[in-house]
Amino acid sequence: MRKPLIAGNWKMFTTPPKAAKLADEMKAVLGGCRWADIVVCPPYTSISTVAASLKGTVMEIGAQDLFWEKEGAYTGEISAEMIREAGCAWVIIGHSERRAYFNETDENVYKKMRAAISAGLKPIVCVGETLDQRDKGVTENIIENQLIDGLGSLDNLSAVTIAYEPVWAIGTGRTATPEQAQEVHKFLRNIIFKKWGGSSAESIRILYGGSVKPENAIDLYDKDDIDGFLVGGASLKADSFARIAESVK
Ligand code: PGA
Repeated sequence: MRKPLIAGNWKMFTTPPKAAKLADEMKAVLGGCRWADIVVCPPYTSISTVAASLKGTVMEIGAQDLFWEKEGAYTGEISAEMIREAGCAWVIIGHSERRAYFNETDENVYKKMRAAISAGLKPIVCVGETLDQRDKGVTENIIENQLIDGLGSLDNLSAVTIAYEPVWAIGTGRTATPEQAQEVHKFLRNIIFKKWGGSSAESIRILYGGSVKPENAIDLYDKDDIDGFLVGGASLKADSFARIAESVK
């Protein structure tokens, strides 16, 4: 049995005071959650504040990205150790917005995955096709390449979580149907099975992301290979985030 995981990606929203308020509201409803792992991913500047607010709860914190070098002259970048010491146990890697706006490649994703794992962080690696790719019928090729190249030669996936986020469903209000999502999740689990073996395939969590809301979460979670959610917009309100978490109970 895979324990569900609900992760909130706050993207470039919330200043530290707003993040503290949101974290406090979430703590009130999810601070003692036992049925799912709950992770929130605030912007870098709010990580310490949110960590202080969530201290003593079961909720954990993730960053939205990192840079693969340990330290050095890399103006503007943040290392795995820096986010870990600020209070993160998790990190999102390869989000489609980073791929689209910041030229993130699968090779970058792989380097970031390695850096995260060696620093003791748990990476959530994102994969997903654009609408154009789906329409052309190449979804499986795209997803397979992103997964294989992004996870590369990692021989142990025990720290890794995958998030399937169809680009056309992110922030658009257009969710993949439970059937569409399940099809890709099953495909991903099969690739893991072939490359990393049965126990990795059985234990790895594959999250769905893309316009997840309290209204659609139950039907999505009902599918065998959907183990939780990576939530954007609906994670910016404690109430909707909590209701999504409730739906996997
Ligand atoms: P959304 O974003 O829930 O706002 O569609 C999901 C994500 O980008 O992780």
